[in-house]
Amino acid sequence: MTVIATMVDDSPALLAEKVAAQRNRPGYAMDPYFYRSHLVHERELDAIVYRSWLYAAHVSQVPKPGDYVQFEIGEDAIIICRDEAGEVHALMNICRHRGARVCEEKRGNRKTFVCPYHGWVYKLDGSLKAARAMGALEGFEMADYGLKRGRCCVYEGLIFINCDPDAADFEPALDTVGAALAPYDLPAAKVAHSQVYRVEANWKLALENYLECYHCATAHRAYAKLHSIQDLDDRHSEITDNMLARAEEQTGVPGVTLNHYQAYSSSKAFGTDVYHSRYALYDGFLTGSDGGRPVAPLMGRFTGYDGGAGDFQLGPLCFMLNYPDHCVLYRFTPRGIAATDMEIVWFVRGDAEEGKDYDRDALTWLWHHTTQEDEYIITRNSAGVNSHFFEPGPYNPGYESICTDFVAWYLNALVP
Ligand code: FES
Ligand SMILES: [Fe+2]
Repeated sequence: MTVIATMVDDSPALLAEKVAAQRNRPGYAMDPYFYRSHLVHERELDAIVYRSWLYAAHVSQVPKPGDYVQFEIGEDAIIICRDEAGEVHALMNICRHRGARVCEEKRGNRKTFVCPYHGWVYKLDGSLKAARAMGALEGFEMADYGLKRGRCCVYEGLIFINCDPDAADFEPALDTVGAALAPYDLPAAKVAHSQVYRVEANWKLALENYLECYHCATAHRAYAKLHSIQDLDDRHSEITDNMLARAEEQTGVPGVTLNHYQAYSSSKAFGTDVYHSRYALYDGFLTGSDGGRPVAPLMGRFTGYDGGAGDFQLGPLCFMLNYPDHCVLYRFTPRGIAATDMEIVWFVRGDAEEGKDYDRDALTWLWHHTTQEDEYIITRNSAGVNSHFFEPGPYNPGYESICTDFVAWYLNALVP
């Protein structure tokens, strides 16, 4: 576990000063203060993470009433659960009596959540069902002590949550990329594999690494052999144009080439970031696998390969890279000042059978491999930025322009 020394002279005034100084250096990497300050970390959770739409789970993980999975963010745990009426809820796993966790297992099926401490009982929608002997307290109302809840938005089989009751709805933003997302038929898809990669680095270092592909040619040999995005636009425009010209016909999917950017500074409402664009694999490669060979049956309404992949953003911390035969979801979750969970979820067609229609190792090879490379560079990056003599350098204006936009958006969220 990386230990970051506490800044004993940290203060809201210093935070405001650092934000102002960073705003005066657009196009430069972030001051190490933003990776080291506990005050910043607290404020980020309040002002960014708990106000944003976050991917929590896939509907297939909670198919029946009582099914639940837990989503751990920062020091919190949120229970994503389906009630008897079929509705999905996001319940804070914190007893309303004296705060014990009411559920320990990461997934399962329950009729109720019973706090192990003094036995208060909660229903699947979070409402308090029983609180032993609390009738002794005058004015105690069961209705006042349900588990706290976040909001849920189920879209194309993906369950998103938002802990801010006043947050803008996510659906209108998602609809802007819906035509490109729907053809994968994610509601009927199956989670073939998921894995959490815990990286000992601040979440912004992990995210910034995802937002740029300047590092792809040097850090990701296998990925860079397949994906043209590792080159700047003008260098791969011809293969992109060719792919876009044949995409609809070869995939059988109208709308597959939709290009829409509404993320970070361009987001219409806070925490509702979305984008989609289709980018090309190099000629001869069909999907994101070893050698670019198909690794699973075609998804949803796809009828063929166009040599392209759908690149999505769904909220500020979630991305998908969708190939015609499988989809790869990437989620970044802050877990501490120098700890981030990078979770990858691999989706295949709902009726695909492991061992017959797909091989799990072949399916996950590319992104497992690429993520291990990322873990390595992000951890090195973290060690460097936390060094005494670190001085932030300039982002590359072409390759790292989204990082510049992310930093501007981030500073505005931190100190409006
Ligand atoms: S803390 Fe849960 S019942 Fe007391
Ligand atoms: Fe990477």
